[in-house]
Amino acid sequence: WWGSVPMGAPDTILGIRDKYNKDSSPKKVNLGVGAYRDDDGKPFVLPSVRKAEELIYQKCMNHEYAPIAGEVAFREACAKLAFGDCSQPIVDKTNATVQTLSGTGALRLGLDFINRYWQKKREVWLPNPTWFNHPQICDMLCLPYKKYRYYDPKTKGFDVNGACEDLCRAPEGSVILLHACAHNPTGVDPKKEEWECLSKIIKEKKLFPFFDMAYQGFATGSVDRDAQAVRIFVKDGHQVMLAQSFAKNMGLYGERVGALTVLCGDKCTADKVMSQLKVSIRTIYSNPAINGSRIVKEILTNAELKQQWLVDVKAMADRIITMRKMLREAIEGAGSKHKWNHITDQIGMFCYTGLTPAQVDRITKECHIYLTKDGRISVAGITTKNVAYVAESIHKVTSS
Ligand code: LMR
Repeated sequence: WWGSVPMGAPDTILGIRDKYNKDSSPKKVNLGVGAYRDDDGKPFVLPSVRKAEELIYQKCMNHEYAPIAGEVAFREACAKLAFGDCSQPIVDKTNATVQTLSGTGALRLGLDFINRYWQKKREVWLPNPTWFNHPQICDMLCLPYKKYRYYDPKTKGFDVNGACEDLCRAPEGSVILLHACAHNPTGVDPKKEEWECLSKIIKEKKLFPFFDMAYQGFATGSVDRDAQAVRIFVKDGHQVMLAQSFAKNMGLYGERVGALTVLCGDKCTADKVMSQLKVSIRTIYSNPAINGSRIVKEILTNAELKQQWLVDVKAMADRIITMRKMLREAIEGAGSKHKWNHITDQIGMFCYTGLTPAQVDRITKECHIYLTKDGRISVAGITTKNVAYVAESIHKVTSS
């Protein structure tokens, strides 16, 4: 039956882990997947998460089905974290928020909803570049997509004029995908005034903003600061769609826990949207997994634990900022003639190094350092022990 099925391509990001695992060199370094590591290069379980697990264990909870949309307390806590406790949608209860299979599940569910209920077939506009999975999800849903200018390779910063020009010519009703903070893969975010400008254009041109917020807390160490773009748009009256993930900011990668929110403007619409999201969920995985959402709920609704979590997130963000400084200093110290200020100018988990595909091939083959073909490195994979080696290797492949 299935002999004619073509072989699928290995995953651009997750496929790197398999290659890394097969490499027997003691020097190998994995800067591919965006997963936080401690200074020994080990996976990190946040102290707040450990504490939440203990509290949950003590409650001797059962393993019954969760409600289709997830537990109410979990959903409310997610929406408050994103929009702010006293924000209008929270006060008016005009949000339809459901638990999802992390950020990817939220994106898929949200785009599927758009595909089904948008009165006319719409285009999705993605930043150029964007997370590899964004276009892939659109393709799976047969949603046409275009790219708007975002990253300027000359300045290694945000191309504000290019983005504004492109958004101005997007057809009315187009879905504009925005990375709320810590843009993946570039680590380049618009400034506050630039977000305000984007919000204005998107409003005037009657475009639809869909935020992907996978790194709340990771860009600056502050969850409120990192939600600034979403909150500017909400304040400006946009009824945004929002995908949230707790993979990175709580280190709950394998728990697959996140949320999708659709802001609806009134409670009656929110109820209808919610009912349709539930129908979708029921037909895909019936109802969500309970373990990850219990941990998130415990942390976000227990004041003491939440405080601990905010400290944990900041510590992770700070370690990454320190590694950026050390990496830049070490490459410059090695005598590189190139400019490396972008390493410290960019924020979040990723640095878009500027390495060409050929240089990426070389650094992998000759130095056993693994990263994506576009030159993105996960700064979270750098430690005080390997930073000198990574810097030396980058200098080697960029100087000859
Ligand atoms: C990444 O970009 O490395 C992460 O978001 C992990 C993933 O699923 O791609």
